[in-house]
Amino acid sequence: MPLARSLSITSLSGLEEWDEEFDLEDAVLFEIAWEVANKVGGIYTVIQTKARLTAEEWGENYFLVGPYVESNVRTQVELIEPTNPALKRAIDKMNSSGCKVYFGRWLIEGSPYVVLIDVAFTAWNLDKWKKELWDNFSIGVPWFDREANDAVLFGFLTAWLLGEYAAQCEEPPHILAHFHEWLAGLGLALCRQRQLPVATIFTTHATLLGRYLCAGSVDFYNNLADFNVDKEAGDRQIYHRYCLERTAARCAHVFTTVSQITAVEAEHLLKRKPDIITPNGLNVKKFSAMHEFQNLHAQSKNRIQEFIRGHFYGHLDFNLDKCLFLFIAGRYEFSNKGADIFLEALARLNYLLRVSCVCACPALCVCVCVHVYQKMDTAQTVKERFGKKLYESLLVGQLPDVSKMLSKDDFTMMKRAIFATQRQCQPPICTHNMLEDSNDPILTCIRRIGLFNSSADRVKVIFHPEFLSSTSPLLPMDYEEFVRGCHLGVFPSYYEPWGYTPAECTVMGIPSISTNLSGFGCFMEEHIADPSAYGIYILDRRYRGVDESCNQLTSYLFQFCQQSRRARIIQRNRTERLSDLLDWRYLGRYYISARHMALAKAFPDTYFYQPHDSDTAQGFRYPRPASVPPSPSLSRHSSPRQSEAEEDDDRYDEDAEAEKDRLNIRQPLTLPSKKGLPLVSNLGYLWSVI
Ligand code: UDP
Ligand code: G6P
Ligand code: GLC
Repeated sequence: MPLARSLSITSLSGLEEWDEEFDLEDAVLFEIAWEVANKVGGIYTVIQTKARLTAEEWGENYFLVGPYVESNVRTQVELIEPTNPALKRAIDKMNSSGCKVYFGRWLIEGSPYVVLIDVAFTAWNLDKWKKELWDNFSIGVPWFDREANDAVLFGFLTAWLLGEYAAQCEEPPHILAHFHEWLAGLGLALCRQRQLPVATIFTTHATLLGRYLCAGSVDFYNNLADFNVDKEAGDRQIYHRYCLERTAARCAHVFTTVSQITAVEAEHLLKRKPDIITPNGLNVKKFSAMHEFQNLHAQSKNRIQEFIRGHFYGHLDFNLDKCLFLFIAGRYEFSNKGADIFLEALARLNYLLRVSCVCACPALCVCVCVHVYQKMDTAQTVKERFGKKLYESLLVGQLPDVSKMLSKDDFTMMKRAIFATQRQCQPPICTHNMLEDSNDPILTCIRRIGLFNSSADRVKVIFHPEFLSSTSPLLPMDYEEFVRGCHLGVFPSYYEPWGYTPAECTVMGIPSISTNLSGFGCFMEEHIADPSAYGIYILDRRYRGVDESCNQLTSYLFQFCQQSRRARIIQRNRTERLSDLLDWRYLGRYYISARHMALAKAFPDTYFYQPHDSDTAQGFRYPRPASVPPSPSLSRHSSPRQSEAEEDDDRYDEDAEAEKDRLNIRQPLTLPSKKGLPLVSNLGYLWSVI
């Protein structure tokens, strides 16, 4: 008997309730992406965080499909026998035909099933499949483009899997396949070309051309409608990739993207208007006590402070307790992610702080130094020996002779540790030795603006050119812990279809700066009456030139640095309050609508789709905060004593509020030109600056 499933999405802090009655019958959902159990960037976050909600809805009929990467499987996946008999037969059949397909459970919340395909193992088929691609779609993939070759293999293998699964089902199946991003798109096109009984969805998380054009010196947003897309793709040697992406978008029953801004971009560059926008959500953890996330901030901040102590040893001439930690993180796309204007704004902030003598030292940091360990080890050893002597003397009922508690050896060891940790050079900027140090965009920029961590600099910079990890010997913290310990995330992106990094800050109660060119920034602007009151600063990169945006960013940073501790705590509480808006339990509805729409289009005799009012993520708006302002000025007269910090609060109240009003006044529309910004290398590894 087919199972009737329905879903009710409950009301979250006033967000409207949404009930959906839709009989899924015997439908089976496959969600296909290169980032299934394979972390590269934000698409991994989409799939990993959404899995629990989707698994709740689809239960045993939900399968994620991704590439088999041994190192990932070892740490994230438990391999098991396929649970679904038709799928088991399909996988067995493929494996006996020269493929390597694995089945397992992905060890994340919701424990979804995963089908992982070893694409390299089937590389012997590449030429044959490329010919088929040329014959049927007229897309020619050059031999040297490894990523595109993987896309071809992955595409043919996923279409094979879906076709085989359909063939193994006893009844005509209702298969729904949701493909993410161009790397997985070919599977979709093949399903359509082979006329498989599969309802298809294609979600693009960016457009290839958009990403490439923005990374160059092109005035992107003012020319969206005028690009000669074929020529632009050809000039950048991505014509074949572009064709794969456009084919998937054109062939899909339902085409979606993550934000309104990318929907407009897709309409111009991929020549199809998305049917529905599917904004990205997160799995929001709610603590039983409100202050719990504030405690976590304090704990993580302590660990970052420890690290900074190590990094600046011998030069720690600033008060760590008054340091603010600002950071940027993400894939290494220097100007797309706005690292260029962040660094420039830091240089300006450095100047402002010097002349204004504000007692805050925003520092950018990461790393631990071997020499500091040496000091810690020495102290530990001496302490143990001291303790032993103390214990021995107490055992025989005597007070110890203090002059004999430390031996000559102990003194030598301590002196050695002190000498070893003295240094004349400046604290380094980069925590790693870079292979291309002289060409690296961040290091080159830092050299140009002269932020060298000298003692006169009020802004210190540390560049950690790798993903953070709790197993790192330098800074053993995972990304989430690190974000919690910081004060402000700065993500002034020029190209950002969504932008998970500021969204993650929000659900952890950490204020952030994003832009009105990012999906997240636009979404927050649309849903919150006064975003900056909630610690969501949205930089204007749409209507201002680069220099003006940079000034605005500098002023946001300056304003932030002038807040008192109390104001920061209140602001974090407000930021965290927005979490519900970003919860999959609320945003998951758009994915659900897209799936129903696709099923109804592909199987009109079985499914009927009734458009929902809330399919366009519009309508809801968070009001201005009704609580006390982030300054204690109202409680001033009732406070028995006013501390120095509270004095700071009052100054913040007058000056910062005035500054905020000034910034809120929109400048007349001067459209930005991207020309003049440095040219940037592309899609590389990950980096984070703190
Ligand atoms: N991220 C991470 N470790 C880091 C830096 C970033 O895990 O050291 C993650 C971050 O949590 C986020 C993702 O990388 O989920 C970046 O996604 P985003 O949408 O911001 O940008 P994308 O890289 O997809 O363009
Ligand atoms: C949290 C903790 C407080 C701590 C504060 C520091 O709110 O609960 O105990 O004083 O963080 O805030 P700051 O913005 O200075 O890191
Ligand atoms: C892409 C975009 C990013 C988005 C992510 C998830 O990688 O660059 O802005 O957040 O996909 O949709």
